[in-house]
Amino acid sequence: MLTFLPALLLAPLALAVRLPPRPLPPKLPPSLKAEVQNVHTGDTLPPITTVYTFQQLIDHDNPSLGTFTQRYWTTWEFYKAGGPIVMFTPGEDAADPYVGYLTNATINGQIAQQQHGATIVIEHRYYGLSNPFSDLSVASLKYHTIQQAVDDLVYFAENVVLPMPGGDQVAPSKAPWVLVGGSYSGALTAFIKVNKPDTFFVGYASSAVVESIVDFWGYFEPIRLFMPKNCSADVQAAIAHIDQVFASGNTAAISAIKNSFGMGDVVHPDDVTGSLRENLWDWQSLQPASGPGATFFQFCDALEVKNGVSAPASGWGAEHAVAAWGDFWTTGGYLNLICGGDDAEDCLGSYNTSQSFWTDTSLNNADRSWMWIVCTEVGFFQDAAPAGYPSLVSRLAQISGDERQCVQMFPAAFKTPPTPNVGKTNAAYEGWNLKAERLFIANGQSDPWRYATTSSGFVNIASTPEQPIAEGNGFHCSDLLTENGGVDSTVLAVQNQGLAVIGKWLAEWKPGSTH
Ligand SMILES: *[C@@H]1O[C@H](CO)[C@@H](O)[C@H](O)[C@H]1NC(C)=O
Ligand SMILES: *[C@@H]1O[C@H](CO)[C@@H](O)[C@H](O)[C@H]1NC(C)=O
Ligand SMILES: *[C@@H]1O[C@H](CO)[C@@H](O)[C@H](O)[C@H]1NC(C)=O
Repeated sequence: MLTFLPALLLAPLALAVRLPPRPLPPKLPPSLKAEVQNVHTGDTLPPITTVYTFQQLIDHDNPSLGTFTQRYWTTWEFYKAGGPIVMFTPGEDAADPYVGYLTNATINGQIAQQQHGATIVIEHRYYGLSNPFSDLSVASLKYHTIQQAVDDLVYFAENVVLPMPGGDQVAPSKAPWVLVGGSYSGALTAFIKVNKPDTFFVGYASSAVVESIVDFWGYFEPIRLFMPKNCSADVQAAIAHIDQVFASGNTAAISAIKNSFGMGDVVHPDDVTGSLRENLWDWQSLQPASGPGATFFQFCDALEVKNGVSAPASGWGAEHAVAAWGDFWTTGGYLNLICGGDDAEDCLGSYNTSQSFWTDTSLNNADRSWMWIVCTEVGFFQDAAPAGYPSLVSRLAQISGDERQCVQMFPAAFKTPPTPNVGKTNAAYEGWNLKAERLFIANGQSDPWRYATTSSGFVNIASTPEQPIAEGNGFHCSDLLTENGGVDSTVLAVQNQGLAVIGKWLAEWKPGSTH
């Protein structure tokens, strides 16, 4: 007998293979608060989960191609006529889980509260339900470029009629617009201030990955430098040992290592050793309020605490570290946590091009949409450090493996492994050399993306009055969340510096001001 299940339950999970974390701000779903009032008038406003839509141009170079429906959310809780419009996109993700960015749980809402502004969260093209076409095939991705995304935000601000009293009187010539972004969308904020400076009077860019980099081994540098010293030493020692075993060709020793991690069936050596980055990628979800129970710290505890005693800064050495790391994956439950009981080769292997992960072109698949930008414009491949330099990552993890995956995901676009054209991206938006007016840049010392920001260890970029750079001790986009300022005073100082300079800049705005 057939039973009929709702389509949602039948839909297979397309995401078998695991990709590196995308450069994204932390999610902040709306709280369940039923209604919101305007703080000045007491008027009851629609719930912040109300979805609004905008007809966006598919191709800003050829408006005759028509429009698609772009989703946005807005509230005027703090708004008074004459106040600014504070806009945010989470960037490369469906935007529903970021609707909390309308509220003063974030810097956006704090800016609105201080300046009597309205807030907007807008979904980026090709993510969530904001799509020009009905699939994510290579043909459909033709208009998925950073420049089209830049032009989207400008066109939206210039043309939207906001669903609030006086919402037809807030075009950028009549009201100041503030664009806020974090991570990739932080970069987008900086890019817009460089490329289309006349629409958004002020920009706030948090953990903005402004320099596109193909071989982004620097992702792991803040982790190596700020993780517990013993754990850093032991991860390096364990990886060096594992790489040596794989290089030796000793099949019995290689099998023993694979089995000890529950990866006995994983075919390709680089998939085995590359998967050990999973424990490092957990660093990206840390925030000042995370506490010692976070997954990353559980991993370090597993390696460093032996019979109740913590290792000294030099660690316990490779032998103990490899064994303890394997136990963490198997009996410790980590493999099950990341693969949900799937077969390890299906979950961690990256070579089987028949898997739906590579072939499924259905909508609302942020990994696929982002990979298009990775393979064409930004790179950011997260691999081993250069030879001779300390590495937390296996030397088998090289950009050739990532470029191979670009071919597997988009065979209609790439016949051979492509090198993302970061030179073109950095020339168009100035990368680390960017100079913009009224752009506040906020960074965090422990942010794994820091080496692509203006606080990169690769360059030395001065803070200026027009483009202040504030760096706290935070993690990725920590300053975007109000609560992080309550936990870490250096993050609070970044937030307060941003609020103060934005207040000063907005006081200089006059109708018709551009730049
Ligand atoms: C956030 O806004 C609410 C009104 O919605 C207000 O009661 C609260 O004090 C504000 N929080 C902060 C930190 O300003
Ligand atoms: C050693 O590791 C433990 C457990 O993760 C950690 O609490 C401690 O701070 C580390 N000590 C040093 C010197 O790195
Ligand atoms: C490759 O993936 C397909 C689809 O999931 C599966 O049927 C097949 O068994 C896999 N091949 C290998 C060699 O694992």
